[in-house]
Amino acid sequence: MMQVYDRVVTTGGILTLVWLTIVVAFALGTLSALDGIRSRIMIRAGLRLDRLLSRDILDHALRMTRGGRAPQVMRDFDTVRQAFSGPPAIALMDMPWVPIYVLVAFLLHWILGVAVIVGALVLLGITILNERATRDATKAATRTLSQSYGEQERLVAQAELVRSQGMREALVARHVERRATGLGLTSSHQFASGQYSSIAKFWRMFLQSAALGLGAYLAVEREISSGAIIAASVLMGRALQPIELLVGAWKPMTDAREALSNLVELYTGAPRTKAFPLPAPAGRIEARGLTLWGPKGAPPILANVGVEGGPGELIGITGPSGAGKSTLMRVLVGAVAPDSGEIRVDGSELRDWDPETLAGHIGYLPQDCALLPGTVAENIARFALARGDDPEAVNRKVIAAATAAGVHTLVTQLPEGYNHVVGWGGEGLSYGQRQRVALARALYGDPAILLLDEPNAALDAEGEAALIAAIGKARARGATVLVAAHRVAVLAAATKLLVLVGGRVQHWGPAEEVRQRLQIRAPEPRLAEVKASNG
Ligand SMILES: Nc1ncnc2c1ncn2[C@@H]1O[C@H](COP(=O)(O)OP(=O)(O)O)[C@@H](O)[C@H]1O
Ligand SMILES: [Mg+2]
Repeated sequence: MMQVYDRVVTTGGILTLVWLTIVVAFALGTLSALDGIRSRIMIRAGLRLDRLLSRDILDHALRMTRGGRAPQVMRDFDTVRQAFSGPPAIALMDMPWVPIYVLVAFLLHWILGVAVIVGALVLLGITILNERATRDATKAATRTLSQSYGEQERLVAQAELVRSQGMREALVARHVERRATGLGLTSSHQFASGQYSSIAKFWRMFLQSAALGLGAYLAVEREISSGAIIAASVLMGRALQPIELLVGAWKPMTDAREALSNLVELYTGAPRTKAFPLPAPAGRIEARGLTLWGPKGAPPILANVGVEGGPGELIGITGPSGAGKSTLMRVLVGAVAPDSGEIRVDGSELRDWDPETLAGHIGYLPQDCALLPGTVAENIARFALARGDDPEAVNRKVIAAATAAGVHTLVTQLPEGYNHVVGWGGEGLSYGQRQRVALARALYGDPAILLLDEPNAALDAEGEAALIAAIGKARARGATVLVAAHRVAVLAAATKLLVLVGGRVQHWGPAEEVRQRLQIRAPEPRLAEVKASNG
């Protein structure tokens, strides 16, 4: 434009104008082609980042032994990834050009240079004020909203119960309120951010016109050529654009920073595992001084609990509802890290084992069964095919486990047999069937240690007989079996008994001794009472 004024307008050279047009068209074409290539590269970089990290991040999230934000890590990762391949990154990339524009402005005239610097500093100031003003609101808004999304998903999943118990209106009202809080926080920070954006825009446009005026003044004073007037205005715009872009990209940038810190937390919070090539365990398990604190101010869920057993033994864990039986099971299986105490398998501390390897030697049946979406066979095989295990061996082990659990006939009677598809939690099966399939999963691969949490809770007489037979067979092949149960039928054959009350050991020792003590001491819960309490 400077050339248009200086060469064309003053001399009336039309040919020069044509040439200038061609040159400008070529330059602009190159610019947009480069822009296009850049955004393609950024998108590809984003995809590559996903390939490199997503597996590892999900893996870490599943290793977490303390809840935290594990369920949201992939969303966090996507936020970071999008920032890396979207407007925030582009805004940052354009930043290094600012000094060059400033330099060119100085070459035109020092006053123009100073004007550009002042303009840029003011714009940066606005950006920083924006960040200050919205930082906390952004954090709170993101937290509240993502909580509200999670809640809503779970609410819809329970629609059946909600409808049948007349909780629809109440829960909708409660949820809407919470959602409104989240949205309120978001919009207040959007308002603030929008305000700063428009101030920034105003400032840039004003400066551009001011630069025009300044240029005109300098031209009148014969300090610069008349073409340089336009150049000054364009330079001002160009120099400030990346900064304005940065102001606009502030929200995704702060989101990404928040998300990134969550991911970093995930990596520092996850237990470090030194993969230790230990031989297959015989099944001796010893736990000492296990303590697990509940929420602040509450008494511990487990207080100095110990238990131990070896191959062939059946350890019964009993006690009233809320005594901590399930929690003890989860700690023993390594799913939850205790606050203190130690667990040894065959003499080696739990954390010395590679978790995935050790898990192959442990059969765990959680209280809620927790079947995952997939076929019955996949569930029993712990999804081993997706890991790349040999299909024939997997099939053989699935049938063996189902037979050991006494569930083979039951499965073959399902419409699709082993290929019967179940949903989250085991939807599509009755509770008894879920529990029996989950027992087969626990028995998959003949694990050396079996931890069964209320394995008979949903079983009929036939199922309970199958369970007792399965426990007997597992012990006969040398497995260590721990069973938590308040219904003591399955504990009849126990070699040792642990009675928990309120997270503390009330009795521990050989089954006969504990039974006698329970009968003699009057004030303490008798086994019969323990049996009567439901939980
Ligand atoms: N994730 C958790 N966070 C906080 N408290 C928990 C959690 N899980 C269980 N508890 C508490 O721990 C206690 C023991 O629960 P649990 O082990 O399920 O008992 P049991 O299996 O013997 O019925 C209960 O009082 C319960 O409130
Ligand atoms: Mg329980």
